Amino acid sequence: MWLGDEMRILGKRGDEITLLAQPNEDIAKGDYIMIEDANRDKKLIIQVYDEAYLDVRGILEEIVRDEVVSSSGDGVEHDPLQMKSISYAIRDMRVIKCKIRGSIEGGVLTTAVSWLPSRTSSKIKKISISSLISMNGKLGERVINIGRARDGELINLYAESFDGQLNIITGRKGSGKSYFAKLLASKLVEYGAYVIIFDLNDEYAGLAWKRNGEPSEIANRVIRLIPSFTLKFSLKYLGLGTFINILYHILDLPGTSLREFIRIWEYLYSQNSLTLKSLYEAIQNVKCNELVRDALISRYHTLMDSKLFTDNEEESLRIEELIAKMVNGGLIIISLNKVYPLTRRMAVEIILSKITQLLERNLIPPIFLFAEEAHLYLRETYWDDLITRMRHYGVFTTLITNQPDVIKDSIYRQADNIFLFNFANDSDLEMVSRTSSTDSDTIKSIVKTLPPRYLLALGKAVNNLPIVIQVAPIDLITLGETKLFFSQLQKASPLKVDCGIHR
Ligand SMILES: Nc1ncnc2c1ncn2[C@@H]1O[C@H](COP(=O)(O)OP(=O)(O)O)[C@@H](O)[C@H]1O
Ligand SMILES: [Mg+2]
Repeated sequence: MWLGDEMRILGKRGDEITLLAQPNEDIAKGDYIMIEDANRDKKLIIQVYDEAYLDVRGILEEIVRDEVVSSSGDGVEHDPLQMKSISYAIRDMRVIKCKIRGSIEGGVLTTAVSWLPSRTSSKIKKISISSLISMNGKLGERVINIGRARDGELINLYAESFDGQLNIITGRKGSGKSYFAKLLASKLVEYGAYVIIFDLNDEYAGLAWKRNGEPSEIANRVIRLIPSFTLKFSLKYLGLGTFINILYHILDLPGTSLREFIRIWEYLYSQNSLTLKSLYEAIQNVKCNELVRDALISRYHTLMDSKLFTDNEEESLRIEELIAKMVNGGLIIISLNKVYPLTRRMAVEIILSKITQLLERNLIPPIFLFAEEAHLYLRETYWDDLITRMRHYGVFTTLITNQPDVIKDSIYRQADNIFLFNFANDSDLEMVSRTSSTDSDTIKSIVKTLPPRYLLALGKAVNNLPIVIQVAPIDLITLGETKLFFSQLQKASPLKVDCGIHR
C-alpha cells in the first residue's frame, strides 16, 4: 500500500528517521515502512515506534493566541486566504518517529545500513510484516498461526523457532500471557512435541477440550498429574542423585548428615531393600552423632509428609514410560496449585532432575518445558542450569511471569525469543528494555501502550524484527479466568451502567 503523497522524510538522527504525516494517515506504532529511493536499488526498512505533533516554531504561540481571541467574544472573522484552515492542518500534522531496522539489497534484508535515502525522490510505502519475517528464507515448515498484525495481516510463526530455544513471556497480570502460552504449547504438541507444564493456576488441562465441549485435536495426548496423588515415585526409581538434590538444595541438610544419608542409602541399595520403611529404621539405628540423626529424622518426616514417595512400584510414575505411551507428542501438566510450597519445590526438583538424567541417557526425546511463575518453585541454582546444561541435553524452557524482575538479566540476554505484553509500570518497563537487544525507545514506547492480548515479539521467531501481534483466539478451553468477588453480583444485576467510555 502506498502511503499518501504527503508522507515525507523529515530527518535522521542516529538510527532514527522521522517522517511527516497527515492527520488521517493510517499509521501506528509497530508498523513497518519501506522507503524506496528512486535512484538506488535499495530499500530502507524502518519501524514506527512513536508519534508526536509537529513542533514548528511559533505554533504554540499561535494556538494560545487563537484560544485567547476566541474566548474574548465572537468577533467578525476576516480570512479571505483561508489561512486558518492551513494553520489548522499544520497543527494536526504528525511526526512519526521510526527506527531503522535494516535495508533490502538485492532481495536480502541486512541490518547494517550505511546509506541515506533521498528526501525528495523517495517513495514511502507500508510493508507487509510476514514478507519481512521470511525475507531471508523461511523460518520453518510447521506453521503456528499466532494472530494478526494491527492491520489484520495474518502472522505465522514456526514451531522450529522454538526448538532448542529459551523463551520468555512476560507482561502484567491479565494481559494474555498464559493464553499465548497455551496456544504455543498446544501447537507444539499437535506437531508431535513433548511439553511439560508447571501449571500454577490449574488452567492448562482445558486444552484437551474444544469450546463446544468436544475433545480437541490433542485430547488423547494430554495428561494432568497431581503431586502426592498421581505424581508419586519410588526411591529406587528416583535414585540417589535426585535424593541428594532434594535433601541438600530443598531441605537444607548439612554436609555431614548428607554423607551419613548416602552411606545408609548405599547399604540399603546393596541389600536390595530400598524402601521408606527400611530407610526409617536404618536412620533410627545408625550409629552416629545425635545431631546428625535428628537432622535425618526430621528430613525423613518432611519427605513422608509430602506424600511424593511410595514403596509401591505400581504406583510409582516412570516418566520415560509415560512418554513412550504418548506416541505423537504429549502435554504433561503438573498441577501445582493445590500443593504446599515445599512439596511443590520437591516435585519440581524431582521432575527436572529426573528428566535431565533420562535425557543424558537418551531415554526420552527433548522436552519443551513451560514454567509459570518459576521463581515460586525453581531453586536458585537451576536458573543458569536451564539455559546451559539442561538446554544442551534437550530441555527447552519457556518462562512465563508477570514479574519481569525475578528473571536475571543474564537470562534475558540469553533468551532467543521474548514476548512482551503490556506493562504500565515504569520500573518493569525499564527492566525489560535494559536487557533486550532491541533499542529501549521502541520497547518502552510500544509496550506501554499495548492493549490486552497484543504482544511485542522479539527474537529469532520473528527474524529479529520487533513485531506487534494481536494473539488469535483459539478454539480450546483456556480456563484461567481470574475469580472475582463482584462479578457474580454484576451478572445478577439487571442494571446496565453506561459510563460513556466505548472502546
Ligand atoms: N488472544 C486472546 N483471545 C481471547 N481471549 C483471550 C486472549 N488472551 C487472553 N484472553 C483471555 O483474557 C483473560 C486473561 O488472559 P491470561 O492469559 O490468563 O492472562 P495472564 O496470564 O497474562 O494473566 C483470560 O480470561 C483469557 O482467556
Ligand atoms: Mg497467567
